Amino acid sequence: YGDASQKIDYVFKVVLIGDSAVGKSQILARFARNEFSLDSKATIGVEFQTRTLVIQHKSVKAQIWDTAGQERYRAVTSAYYRGAVGAMLVYDITKRQTFDHIPRWLEELRNHADKNIVIILIGNKSDLEDQRSVPTEDAKEFAQKEGLFFLETSALESTNMKNRMGILEIWLE
Ligand code: GTP
Ligand code: MG
Repeated sequence: YGDASQKIDYVFKVVLIGDSAVGKSQILARFARNEFSLDSKATIGVEFQTRTLVIQHKSVKAQIWDTAGQERYRAVTSAYYRGAVGAMLVYDITKRQTFDHIPRWLEELRNHADKNIVIILIGNKSDLEDQRSVPTEDAKEFAQKEGLFFLETSALESTNMKNRMGILEIWLE
């Protein structure tokens, strides 16, 4: 996780967005502190956490921002997106509606974020395979059509979380 004396080559701001309860805050908790909680409270406003990673011999401080999926708890949109080089657009593989709302989130991103922002579509809760309502193929196809990276994760089981966060490499290119 690095120490204070470490030289930082890059600071990357990445934003998490998606419907309420898809697991954005738990993805962040897993990524930043390797923690997970089943009784996570809905986020109010905005928070962020950082983690320093070494990617391609460069030390990268990832500053991951998290906000409420619920409209009434959301903070000022333009400030949230300002300076972000990446976005994790999250849905819940067991809740079709959260996937059906992805185009709306994408539109918000395209209206407020930098046009070169790199977007990863994330289908979270892959541990709940028996309750799956969004086929991997549907999401893959959508991601391809929209030019997004795509990943299925489980914050609970840490699938595609810790190691695959090397996906941050895409922001170094
Ligand atoms: P808002 O802050 O309201 O926008 O919600 P959020 O997207 O931050 O959701 P949050 O991280 O609070 O998670 C919602 C619920 O889903 C909590 O009960 C989590 O424990 C649970 N959860 C998150 N990730 C996973 C996962 O990978 N698998 C399972 N089974 N549950 C998860
Ligand atoms: Mg949250």
